[in-house]
Amino acid sequence: MERTDLPIAVLDSGVGGISVLRELVRHMPHEDFLYLGDSKNAPYGEKTPEEVLHITRENLKMLLARGIKALVLACNTATGAAARTLRAEFPDLILVGIEPALKPASLLGDRPRVLVMATPLTLKQEKFCTLMARFCDDAEILPLACSGLVELIEAGQTSGEKLENYLKTLFFPHRDTKIDAVVLGCTHYPHVKETIAKILPAGVAILDGSEGTARETRRRLAEKGLLKESGEGRVTIENSSGDERLLSLSRQLLERE
Ligand code: DGL
Repeated sequence: MERTDLPIAVLDSGVGGISVLRELVRHMPHEDFLYLGDSKNAPYGEKTPEEVLHITRENLKMLLARGIKALVLACNTATGAAARTLRAEFPDLILVGIEPALKPASLLGDRPRVLVMATPLTLKQEKFCTLMARFCDDAEILPLACSGLVELIEAGQTSGEKLENYLKTLFFPHRDTKIDAVVLGCTHYPHVKETIAKILPAGVAILDGSEGTARETRRRLAEKGLLKESGEGRVTIENSSGDERLLSLSRQLLERE
């Protein structure tokens, strides 16, 4: 098989990366995608960086053995913990990661106040501290660790009272702060964007990095002459847990706008 015809692998700790897959398909409709949700090991955000690096490396080796032309690490936590090391270990691989969308958020007006929702591990990592240092003159950045939110989403709670109560408690300490933007710094969170918007005051911008990641993936493939420009692309979704409920949730989330 020609290298151009191989699928693009998309990896996340569960159903989160489906929010990135949606953008990838939109930007590259002729490509085949192999999505692996590693729900067996979720949540990554409560693990150590070493554990996340080990798990991500093992998943990558397995995907490479099956034949892929690129890897999209559709997980902010795994990108922070593993992308740099894996790029050094696999120098020929096109590896695109995702990071909290601080750059577009910092452009929203005069020193906007930006709340960054992410997993505890993402916020603890050097990669995030460097990113925050880069934009702290342009925006007031308030990191907000969201322990337990990934578990709710993996359980299929993408709307409803339980999710609303969780979010109300999460935002409570910021009730008297005027927030200009919220960055969804975990790929699971766009799946609950409507509920987040409902709870926040009107006019707060909500951003995520999925479109930027899709554009970057397209650019990197084109640069290497590996972009497929005809034929109908196929999407294959797998989950390490083997749980049919998670596969069906993944498919439903992919169809959602
Ligand atoms: N979806 C992942 C991210 O973007 C993390 C979820 C997890 O904690 O497993 O950070």
